[in-house]
Amino acid sequence: MPDHLEPETLAIHTGIHRSQFNEHSEAMYLTSSFVFESAAQAAARFSGEEPGNIYARFTNPTVTAFEERLAALEEAEACIATSTGMAAIMTSVMGLLSAGDHIVASRSLFGATVNLFNNILKRFNIETTFVSATDISEWEAAVRPNTKLFFLETPSNPLTEISDIAELSKVAKRVGAWLAVDNCFCTPILQKPLKLGADIVIHSATKYLDGQGRVLGGAVLGSRELLMEGGIFGFLRTAGPTLSAFNAWVILKGLETLKIRLDTHSDHAIQMARWLEAHPNVLRVYYPGLPSHPQYDLAKRQQKNGGGIVSFEVKGGKEAAWRVIDKARLISITANLGDAKSTLTHPASTTHGRISQEARDDAGITDGLLRVAVGLEAVQDIQADLARGLA
Ligand SMILES: Cc1ncc(COP(=O)(O)O)c(C=O)c1O
Repeated sequence: MPDHLEPETLAIHTGIHRSQFNEHSEAMYLTSSFVFESAAQAAARFSGEEPGNIYARFTNPTVTAFEERLAALEEAEACIATSTGMAAIMTSVMGLLSAGDHIVASRSLFGATVNLFNNILKRFNIETTFVSATDISEWEAAVRPNTKLFFLETPSNPLTEISDIAELSKVAKRVGAWLAVDNCFCTPILQKPLKLGADIVIHSATKYLDGQGRVLGGAVLGSRELLMEGGIFGFLRTAGPTLSAFNAWVILKGLETLKIRLDTHSDHAIQMARWLEAHPNVLRVYYPGLPSHPQYDLAKRQQKNGGGIVSFEVKGGKEAAWRVIDKARLISITANLGDAKSTLTHPASTTHGRISQEARDDAGITDGLLRVAVGLEAVQDIQADLARGLA
């Protein structure tokens, strides 16, 4: 392959290892284990003396192809695929941290991530302090001698707050913590956190990487040393939150259209955001591509485009928000995002429903808030669908 290739080319040509049949489209290797030529080879594979596949909980060629392709896009040395995005977060934390360690995390995180940090990790004596996504002084103030990890999502779900990755990475380095960034909303097409100083990138491949809402998947990316020797791969291999070969193949093929999809999602989303901002029954619109967004300048520096997620608060609270959802005929009422189909969610009663009212209030997730993941349909059709409930 040539030395330099653009992302859309890498997304199509990386990770290709043709079999003896010389297939053009990537093969899918549906097998749970791999056969050795001799007892000596089996022993060498298990001891790590000889590289190669052993058992699909550890590695599988289709999964490896996906990992290589995503690593090329994120400009990461290594990638470890996982069964879901939450498995990617759990695998990173369990691989790197121990009882007694401390996490500083953005308050504006996906609900299940908050739950994992706040309730589950706490049982294993890993404590998390939640701070503002945007106020770096809060991160500095929350650091303790045992702080090992900074964790954030940018743009955040659902309020699209933008954290300054480069500045936070400097703080993390100064205090000896790793910085992990959930890059689910932007994907490497719009933002490459590792290039900005992050140590770990997390993906829910369930979202834009698949792009058509078909399968679950996740990934952890970073340096080879951190992922392979730092305990993350060891946790995956032992505990087993592994990506299946079938799902890896689906997402591998999804990556081929990632650039054109993200360009179109972003283009439709800015049109949607402007339209909502002008609507008399909308109190506020959250979209990083709008000049009214509080971190508009940072978003312009950090991201190539605004992405596909627009959140907005309607006048009239929960009742009005639910009316918009119930009047929709085209937009899917579902919690997923990153799909060709537009989706509409009421975060306070769904994705963020399991966190306390106090935590929701702190994060700004009001009862009138709606999140639309703008799909690839004609944007005027989606606007007309929302207009009915907003009237
Ligand atoms: C920002 C973000 N991170 C992580 C996840 C978790 O991903 P998954 O559902 O694949 O476990 C989600 C999912 O919904 C998400 O929106």
